[in-house]
Amino acid sequence: MKKLKIKSVLLLGGLGFIGYNLSKYLLEKGLNVTILDSKNVSSGYNDFHLINLKKERVNVIEDSIGNAEKYKEQIKNSDCVVDLAALISHYDSMRSPLFDIENNTIEHIKFLEVLKNFKNKKVIYISTRQVYGRQEKFPVDENSNLNPIDVNSINKYTTEMYYSLYSRYYGFPLTILRLSNIYGEGMHIKDKRLSFIGWFFNRVITNNPIELYSDGSTLRDLLYVKDLVRTIYNSILVESTGIFNVGSENSYPLKFIAEKLVKLNPKSSIIYVPFPDELKSIDIGSFKPDISKAKEFLNHKEETTLEEGLKNTYDYYQKYKGYYL
Ligand SMILES: NC(=O)c1ccc[n+]([C@@H]2O[C@H](COP(=O)([O-])OP(=O)(O)OC[C@H]3O[C@@H](n4cnc5c(N)ncnc54)[C@H](O)[C@@H]3O)[C@@H](O)[C@H]2O)c1
Repeated sequence: MKKLKIKSVLLLGGLGFIGYNLSKYLLEKGLNVTILDSKNVSSGYNDFHLINLKKERVNVIEDSIGNAEKYKEQIKNSDCVVDLAALISHYDSMRSPLFDIENNTIEHIKFLEVLKNFKNKKVIYISTRQVYGRQEKFPVDENSNLNPIDVNSINKYTTEMYYSLYSRYYGFPLTILRLSNIYGEGMHIKDKRLSFIGWFFNRVITNNPIELYSDGSTLRDLLYVKDLVRTIYNSILVESTGIFNVGSENSYPLKFIAEKLVKLNPKSSIIYVPFPDELKSIDIGSFKPDISKAKEFLNHKEETTLEEGLKNTYDYYQKYKGYYL
């Protein structure tokens, strides 16, 4: 596989969960990293990430991507842009749709209006498998119908389309990664707004019961963040572009995942409660992605078992929970 010569990367939204892990990985690989992040309090932004990255060789700009006009020099000096900037709560997006549209779409169009002037930068937009909505046939590949069922997913899909349009019209190479549920060190565990797995960890770390909606049989694929950032790194370097599902080959019932967590801390437990109506109507149900395209073109590999990933994450929060709870 031919590798591109990429020395410096601009990470939009680099102070959140995935951006923090990706920044550290890119630094280890010897790349220069610049972060543009608005420190949005509704997101997984964390001061601990900012403090730690500032201690490393990371140039951090604390501003919204919509103000990119001020940062043309930093864009010019980057060989690649990875756009992770987002609000990720589906529940919040139903309550504050305009706030979600602003951060997940409008600010990205403002950024694209500046980016269009710089040719030949590799651009990666981080999207979500939520754009598929509820599916009946599994596994779900990249050609499946898109059927976003909440405000956040509609806005992520819209932004995918803007990126594709600008890539075609202004001629820059674009990769879109549609991520499944990502978990690991640094994810938001403070409340249940951002992800079910973050909330499961909160419950286990604080010796509380994990609440499962209905019977816990919904299937989800979980990908450990360290396996994800390696694949994002590969997608930065390879010539291949296009749309890729990035997730795990194994989908497990939520009950099975909760049981693994309770084994890590038997002071926690599982209780079954009815599915809240406001969540049920935007729930996509079970999911199984087809990740063969990412395996072939991005060398996507899962090197961490679910047990190892859950244990590493649990140990991290035992040590650093003060920064996250
Ligand atoms: N975490 C997951 O399980 C998951 C799953 C699917 C897709 N994704 C996608 O991955 C990306 C990163 O997710 P994450 O879990 O790291 O989220 P996160 O909430 O932890 O981090 C997002 C970061 O974006 C920043 N941000 C938000 N709006 C911004 C703006 N206008 N300008 C600059 N910065 C802004 C926030 O301050 C935050 O630091 C998102 O695009 C998300 O949709 C995540």
